[in-house]
Amino acid sequence: MSKVTVVGAGNVGATCANVLAINEVANQVVLLDVKEGFSEGKALDIMQTATLLDFDSVVLGCTNDYAKTAGSDVVVITSGLPRKPGMTREELIGVNAGIVKTVTDNILKYSPNAILVIVSNPMDTMTYLTLKTAGLPKNKVIGMGGALDSARFKCYLSKALNAPANEIEGLVIGGHGDTTMIPLTRFATYKGRPVADLLDKAVLDKAVSNTMVGGATLTGLLGTSAWYAPGAAAAYLVESILRDQKKVIPCSVSLEGEYGQNDICIGVPVVIGKDGVEQILDYELNDTEKGLFEKSADAVRATNHVLKEINVL
Ligand code: LAC
Repeated sequence: MSKVTVVGAGNVGATCANVLAINEVANQVVLLDVKEGFSEGKALDIMQTATLLDFDSVVLGCTNDYAKTAGSDVVVITSGLPRKPGMTREELIGVNAGIVKTVTDNILKYSPNAILVIVSNPMDTMTYLTLKTAGLPKNKVIGMGGALDSARFKCYLSKALNAPANEIEGLVIGGHGDTTMIPLTRFATYKGRPVADLLDKAVLDKAVSNTMVGGATLTGLLGTSAWYAPGAAAAYLVESILRDQKKVIPCSVSLEGEYGQNDICIGVPVVIGKDGVEQILDYELNDTEKGLFEKSADAVRATNHVLKEINVL
């Protein structure tokens, strides 16, 4: 019997719950939101697809009733404001930090052993805040960004290569920000062949830059943050945890010396299994990649520092 709570029944949270149910990743999915009746409505709508899509997971909605979340194995936190067009993820920190902290405190009262998956933006900083305040071991606090950014990278590469995205490997490390993420072109392959050997440099560079502004592009098109890929990326992480798949997924995790960094949560490739973060894979970066990673870490640290300025940490 596995139980997952998704906090925030907005577009991302509801999509995550929907994917978890359709794929029967958990027996029970609790969707919680502060807006009266909203998560109940989303849960009902999802449950009415059960016979159409043939799943037997149960999705339950509740308005701010944390008792219903008790005993969750994994909790996905999507609460907070989404980006509006032209906004950076970092601009959301003031409002979202307070929300994420309150949610985490409430969640841990009822599910002290849960693994937390953080989706709220600015994601690396919200992950760091949770790590610092929740009192959980570092393997239990996972930021989702790299899973999403890597999916976007593979999607852009598949278009450039005219090849199925599922046959492409690609990792995005660093911060989950338009200027901080690092699509690792050197490690990207199509059926074992480096994509750098298959694509013109200009085409590859374009796939990289499209990936980096992947979220902003969608915010511009949709008028708010994207949700299908962010929701699915969170569900993908939950699945690797609950099914102990040990997938290598780039996630924002606490570094203690890996990649030359300390006291930060930032995206690196990790093995995700039943214990959450089971291993951080220390890829050997070249000097250029190292330089980009350091710059990215500096930027994430600057955003983390705001937590102190606004007295959340
Ligand atoms: C994005 C938001 C969810 O990248 O961070 O779409």
